[in-house]
Amino acid sequence: MMSSDQSGAVAGAAAPSRGQGAVTGAGAGAGTGDAADHFIQIVDVVKKFGETVAVKEVNLSVKKGELFALLGSSGCGKSTLLRMMAGLETVTSGKILIDGEDLAQWPPYRRPVNMMFQSYALFPHMTVEANVAFGLKQEGVPKAELKERVQTALDLVQMGRFAKRKPHQLSGGQQQRVALARSLVKRPKLLLLDEPMSALDKQIRQRTQIELVNILDQVGVTCMMVTHDQEEAMTMADRLAVMSEGQIVQLGTPHEVYEYPNSRFSAEFIGSTNLFEGHTVEDEPDYVFIETPDLPCRLYVSHGITGPLGMPVTISVRPERIALTRKPPEGAYNWGKGVVTNIAYMGGYSLYHVKLDGGKTVIANVTSLALTEIDPPTWGDEVYVRWSASAGVVLTS
Ligand SMILES: Nc1ncnc2c1ncn2[C@@H]1O[C@H](COP(=O)(O)OP(=O)(O)OP(=O)(O)O)[C@@H](O)[C@H]1O
Ligand SMILES: [Mg+2]
Repeated sequence: MMSSDQSGAVAGAAAPSRGQGAVTGAGAGAGTGDAADHFIQIVDVVKKFGETVAVKEVNLSVKKGELFALLGSSGCGKSTLLRMMAGLETVTSGKILIDGEDLAQWPPYRRPVNMMFQSYALFPHMTVEANVAFGLKQEGVPKAELKERVQTALDLVQMGRFAKRKPHQLSGGQQQRVALARSLVKRPKLLLLDEPMSALDKQIRQRTQIELVNILDQVGVTCMMVTHDQEEAMTMADRLAVMSEGQIVQLGTPHEVYEYPNSRFSAEFIGSTNLFEGHTVEDEPDYVFIETPDLPCRLYVSHGITGPLGMPVTISVRPERIALTRKPPEGAYNWGKGVVTNIAYMGGYSLYHVKLDGGKTVIANVTSLALTEIDPPTWGDEVYVRWSASAGVVLTS
């Protein structure tokens, strides 16, 4: 169980994601009250393909104007959930409401949803302009309006000057932006993006992520994005859901899920972490002591947990919460002694692998600044690792 001071920390902290206004429901274009908070409602949704249960009883509400990310390993049901929201796949049971209306009631071409696919295909023989105009033409949008909307959409993704080119004359990132313009031009209430950046290399990808967040903010569209890249979800999303085997295992802001994972799966899936196995030896409302064979001392975590004394638990401590020292730490808890077995220099920080006397290897993320203060240890050096009581999170599943 999370103590109240923890949730306070969560609410106050800012993940590097887009305008937090959307999180509180007061973002641009967001209405007020309940309706805006439940703009998209996924209710008890199940999807079976024969014997395979791809999506198991998913319940989820997405707020108006929110950028929501679905995250999880391959095959966990992300695309299937998105495809059902697009109306491309029927639900086996349950329902999906958009702005209060059941998606199943709309004929496919009238649905206020647009999806950009995992492998987005532009029509190769058509110009950029014609690609973006395609959907509007089918809808019978009058020529003058069509022209203007296409122009606006292309300008938005900064592709206006490439309007006459064909897809093969564009870079991967540019093609992706055209695909995005094609989705936005139809002014959907809900934009679904399935791995929108999968075709891009890391550098363009990071730039496009920021651009995309800005564009979505400008348009004010509600967006559900699938990714299996946790960094992408962390930087872009207002909130995210971690999925495993067809179910949502954790839901929250990127900061909440990163700082307070609710299971080993979440902790390991979102970022890297150090896990210590142990059992509780003292459990109070606001702290818990844990004994672990990994350390010469007890673990002390400044939040209580729910469960019987002596229960087996796992403690997650993120690498950036671990400090490295040459001198023995003064505290009686949360430290270990070991030997440096590996150092990965990452520029602004280094990842130190420290093999503890008990045999466990701990990874510490040490900033370059912090290193200058301790006379940087090298391979084979004896060091101590330590962390504060607020650094550890107790996982009971
Ligand atoms: N049309 C289908 N027929 C049968 N099984 C399917 C079908 N589509 C998906 N599945 C199965 O449903 C499960 C979920 O698939 P889905 O495509 O939703 O995964 P995903 O989370 O998007 O994975 P990835 O990250 O690899 O894209 C998988 O086990 C998949 O094999
Ligand atoms: Mg997929």
